[in-house]
Amino acid sequence: MPEAVVAITGASGARYGVRLVEQLSNAGWSVDLIVTGAGEINLELECNMKSFDLEGLDGVSIHSNSNLAARPASGSAKYDAYVVCPASGTTIGKIASGISDNLATRSALVAIKERRKLILVPRETPMSTPHLEAMAKMSSWGVVILPANPGFYHSPTTIEDLVDFVVARILDQLDVEHGIGKRWTGEEVQRD
Ligand SMILES: Cc1cc2nc3c(=O)[nH]c(=O)nc-3n(C[C@H](O)[C@H](O)[C@H](O)COP(=O)(O)O)c2cc1C
Repeated sequence: MPEAVVAITGASGARYGVRLVEQLSNAGWSVDLIVTGAGEINLELECNMKSFDLEGLDGVSIHSNSNLAARPASGSAKYDAYVVCPASGTTIGKIASGISDNLATRSALVAIKERRKLILVPRETPMSTPHLEAMAKMSSWGVVILPANPGFYHSPTTIEDLVDFVVARILDQLDVEHGIGKRWTGEEVQRD
């Protein structure tokens, strides 16, 4: 069973993280979930739920963000991928600076030191120069920077369509088969 660490941090867009966890669970992945304090606030504000509501999903275990002895904190625990979704500017800045002061930042830095797949999903606008520089630096290390920027070329009509656009791109990065979000076929625009 493939295993992922997913961290939901305090950027707006908690529902991207929730949808990702649901899709990974549906696909048979094991998910070790971390939700930061600010992530919990946004989960409640935007999704009317608490992190432990996600523990009912198959394969999902929740770890306290303050538990630096939990399994994701060690490089000897092998995970297939690490995703921070959504990723706050604060967490992005810490990871880029090598600060692992909680389980979310520690697990991301484990991914970097072990040269494993790490995907960061920032959501902020406009973006600050320190965060842009941090992301450019991490991109050069092989970290995937996948902003929560849904496209509109698939004619979305619901919030779920917009969320799925972004989550589908994350699942593609993880080579997870999925049926969410429309794929471009090349037939959409007729030209002479
Ligand atoms: C309602 C709310 C919305 C926020 N939205 C964002 C956001 O979209 N992007 C961002 O980078 N920070 C956002 N923040 C600020 C972060 O939550 C804050 O920087 C926090 O320290 C992040 O901590 P964490 O990375 O440990 O979760 C938001 C905060 C609140 C309370």
